[in-house]
Amino acid sequence: MKLVNSTAVISGGASGLGLAAATYLSHVGAKVALLDVNAEHAKQALTLLPSQQIRFYQADVTSDEQVCQAINSIKNDFGGIDLCVNCAGIAPAVRVLNKSGAACALADYQKVININLVGTFNVARLCAQVMASQPLNDNGERGVIINTASIAAYEGQIGQAAYASSKAGIVGLTLPMARDLASSAIRVNAIAPGIMATPLLLAMPEKVQGALAGNVPFPQRLGEPSEFAKLVGHIAENSYINGEVIRLDGALRMQPK
Ligand SMILES: NC(=O)c1ccc[n+]([C@@H]2O[C@H](COP(=O)([O-])OP(=O)(O)OC[C@H]3O[C@@H](n4cnc5c(N)ncnc54)[C@H](O)[C@@H]3O)[C@@H](O)[C@H]2O)c1
Repeated sequence: MKLVNSTAVISGGASGLGLAAATYLSHVGAKVALLDVNAEHAKQALTLLPSQQIRFYQADVTSDEQVCQAINSIKNDFGGIDLCVNCAGIAPAVRVLNKSGAACALADYQKVININLVGTFNVARLCAQVMASQPLNDNGERGVIINTASIAAYEGQIGQAAYASSKAGIVGLTLPMARDLASSAIRVNAIAPGIMATPLLLAMPEKVQGALAGNVPFPQRLGEPSEFAKLVGHIAENSYINGEVIRLDGALRMQPK
């Protein structure tokens, strides 16, 4: 698909990788709908982005009703949806058993699965519904969905049982969702980033950041959010990438901790 004048919905677009994707897409001429639960961050994000053709829609990705309402508003405001980029997510570290041997709360596990996996599916399915009702674009497509997994889906570390399960779920839904939506001319892919320099990581002490970067074979540094954004742009533009999960990690393979 061509990005100029396309409409992109970005969940988690108020921060980090989502904001980087919003920045990139708006600079190449796409219209952007930021869908995020955090209105405060979104307000700040809007000041960093060109003000025209960008709007914020507040919604919790886990809510059927809120996302339905937001997607309907986006459809009405922009006239359609060409690209859906799912970046909303959380990454708490919780061990299965704590130091005293007590099992973690089931609700903690469920919350991560609900936001990262169910939330991704929720936004993707409702964007797909809008895309499927549109005419084919010049590339013979109706839309593109890009979800954000993580290399934790393959090499989850200590404390990442919930997070890694949620991301493995995103890896697992990529191919069947691409197959489901093939007849509607909608492509579905995922990006599995390694360690990216988003606010979450940049808030860590420099020593910790250095240690994390030191494990990356090459280039030996954290990934830039703009590198994630460029990959989003490439996947959107390259019609033959479908049903795929692409690692973006400088050849990093994570150790147990
Ligand atoms: N930063 C990394 O190193 C890294 C690596 C691999 C994967 N990821 C994944 O990339 C995605 C983005 O991560 P980030 O580092 O940019 O994080 P971030 O915290 O900077 O951004 C996440 C955004 O998601 C929003 N969000 C959280 N819960 C939500 C909900 N219920 N409804 C709507 N919005 C919600 C937040 O408000 C925030 O704006 C996440 O899914 C994360 O798991 C990040």
